[in-house]
Amino acid sequence: MMEALLNLIVNALDAVSDNGSVQIILTKSNEQFVVSIIDDGCGIAPKQLLTIFHPFTTTKPDGTGLGLPVAKRIIEGHGGHIRVSSAPNQGATFTFLLPCSFSSDKK
Ligand SMILES: Nc1ncnc2c1ncn2[C@@H]1O[C@H](COP(=O)(O)OP(=O)(O)OP(=O)(O)O)[C@@H](O)[C@H]1O
Ligand SMILES: [Mg+2]
Repeated sequence: MMEALLNLIVNALDAVSDNGSVQIILTKSNEQFVVSIIDDGCGIAPKQLLTIFHPFTTTKPDGTGLGLPVAKRIIEGHGGHIRVSSAPNQGATFTFLLPCSFSSDKK
């Protein structure tokens, strides 16, 4: 789960400029933990949003395009799910939900 969270945080930090911000908000709602990673960076085009969790989707010269698919697999492996909302130049919000029965020692 730390790997999933780290992939999302690194992506957010890559997307923001020098004075950008990345917020991480944790809430609990309807027996679920809700984790949102919110950045005010470059945002994501609608077309790219359609395939963003597919392996090898990258816009970075040295990116593998595996960070998001790996994060999704980890989160879904814990019974959770992940979604994204973004628009170009309006930042991005990745939100994942985990059941409160989530156990950090599950792989
Ligand atoms: N917060 C974000 N803001 C803008 N674009 C994003 C954000 N997160 C992901 N992306 C886009 O999604 C693509 C895929 O992300 P992913 O983490 O899967 O791979 P990567 O970051 O390119 O490579 P790696 O994770 O191996 O460094 C990125 O290249 C980037 O274009
Ligand atoms: Mg990444």
